[in-house]
Amino acid sequence: MTQVTVENVWKVYGDQTVLENINLEVEAGSFVALVGPSGCGKSTFLRMMLGDEAPSKGRILLDGVALDAEPSPDRGVVFQKYSVFPHLTALQNVMLGLEFAQSPFMGRLFGKAKKLARAESLEMLKCVGLSNAAGKYPSELSGGMQQRLAIAQALVKKPKILLLDEPFGALDPGIRAEVHEILLRLWREEGMTIFMVTHDLSEAFKLGTRVIAFDRLRTRPEEMKAYGATVTFDLDVDGKSVPPRPEMREELAAAAQ
Ligand SMILES: Nc1ncnc2c1ncn2[C@@H]1O[C@H](COP(=O)(O)OP(=O)(O)O)[C@@H](O)[C@H]1O
Ligand SMILES: [Mg+2]
Repeated sequence: MTQVTVENVWKVYGDQTVLENINLEVEAGSFVALVGPSGCGKSTFLRMMLGDEAPSKGRILLDGVALDAEPSPDRGVVFQKYSVFPHLTALQNVMLGLEFAQSPFMGRLFGKAKKLARAESLEMLKCVGLSNAAGKYPSELSGGMQQRLAIAQALVKKPKILLLDEPFGALDPGIRAEVHEILLRLWREEGMTIFMVTHDLSEAFKLGTRVIAFDRLRTRPEEMKAYGATVTFDLDVDGKSVPPRPEMREELAAAAQ
């Protein structure tokens, strides 16, 4: 079933066209890896998916309904730099996600609701392998643990769509592989749809069921402002155990130049 429809979406800042004519249909449960050169509008696209920004033209539909012009619990986000609060423990950080989702004005829960939120948050910490770190502050956690905490914070709200903006770029390769496995497991278990921006093609093919590249088709200096990036490649990566075909990699590597 088509879950996300992006219809002729443009994004223009002042006199600069960043994205143009983006059209996509994404099935529920897809893992979309989004690649493209720096500055081509990948983060801008995610911000529009999040509802943080509206398209200048066109629209984005979620289950056939135009996206709210503001963030909603339907969509969770994890950025490259971990987004957890330094003055809260791991458990408090995860609970905060739930508290704001359930009590947007107060940001606090009491009594039964609070107990339930605590139990769900502890369960989520367990899922990302942080059971023993529940009482620790972010500064006491390694980079990989902080990023797992950010994932727990986003996932505890059970978003339908998870948006990841270069979430693993700052992690060491060994830790990155570990967090990949956790993310893949949660993705399968929760049946979420994921949009992940990455500059690492092997990561895109390893995790994605679909790899999409944004790029500018016109790159002469006098054209840079008037024209934005658009979808230049859109490849289904079928059979996750099968390595991507070499020609796909070459095409994408050329597109990412
Ligand atoms: N709020 C904004 N106001 C003006 N220009 C912006 C804003 N956000 C992004 N841009 C511009 O849009 C372009 C794309 O940025 P971004 O989406 O961050 O690219 P990417 O994530 O692909 O590296 C850049 O030229 C950036 O300067
Ligand atoms: Mg970016």
